[in-house]
Amino acid sequence: MSSLKPLYPGIRLNALIVSDTHIDCKHPLPALPKYWLRSAAKDAEKSVHRMDAFITVGDTTSRGSEKNWQMVSQALVKRNPANKMIFAIGNHDCWNDDGFEAAVENFYKYSKSITGNKRETPYFSHIINGYHFVFLGTDSDSGCEAQFSDEQMAWFASEMEKAGESGKPIFVFCHQSLNGRHGLPRTWDREEDPDRDPMEGGIGERSDEVAAILKKYKNVFYFSGHSHMGLCGENKKSSEGYSSFEYEDGICLINLPSLACGNHHGEVDTMGIGVVLEVYDDRVVIRPRFTSTRRWNKSVAIKDGKPYLEMNI
Ligand SMILES: [Fe+2]
Repeated sequence: MSSLKPLYPGIRLNALIVSDTHIDCKHPLPALPKYWLRSAAKDAEKSVHRMDAFITVGDTTSRGSEKNWQMVSQALVKRNPANKMIFAIGNHDCWNDDGFEAAVENFYKYSKSITGNKRETPYFSHIINGYHFVFLGTDSDSGCEAQFSDEQMAWFASEMEKAGESGKPIFVFCHQSLNGRHGLPRTWDREEDPDRDPMEGGIGERSDEVAAILKKYKNVFYFSGHSHMGLCGENKKSSEGYSSFEYEDGICLINLPSLACGNHHGEVDTMGIGVVLEVYDDRVVIRPRFTSTRRWNKSVAIKDGKPYLEMNI
């Protein structure tokens, strides 16, 4: 065990971020994904510096049914991992026997009952300790990819403009990564398929538009999940050309492993991996964390040979 405490003194904000917990009443061992989520929350709870946020980047459930969301509630009952808990919406959260609308209603209902956040759209933002957190989310039935309406794109552009005026780093969350990043579409599934559509595993049609908006601003950090790629760092980048941490035109793209489903393509594919975001006046640090064993990553070199990402801002 290594205690969850900030790397440096003077921290302004910290958050534990996980993705793809896939809570599912039809799981062969339904208690397992609940265990991983609960373990992550317990790890956050024990943080030496109280966590400002505990975030899941979508696919919190495998299907967005009442039953699955009730299991999420059970997993988090009596847990108090952070000042603010936030669920982003993933494609699996939008799937429900009663259709997309019913699934999204469950997302709103349980976001409210579990986290206290009132939601009226699958996209929303929060300001935490003065830092902008912007959450994109599919707003119509779209299969595995995301579907963003013109309204959502206009809202996103305006939220980013406001965030940019703060002069602070901006944190964007979307279940799906930009198309073609993090080894996609190759890393989309355990089995590789050379004929896969280049958009597969990413946001889909509006990826370039989202990227163009992100790149207008400084110090943007974009978190995704979705591909269950596992944890990859510099070694994978040099051997295979992809990583969980990628950088382009001034933005950082961070792809999270699945917390509770099998990962593939990673340097480490175990479950229970999240990342801790630490924000300081002059830098942002993102540290992979093995939440169930309560250990920091030591084996995967993330940036400049260090087992975490550190960016001066
Ligand atoms: Fe997933």
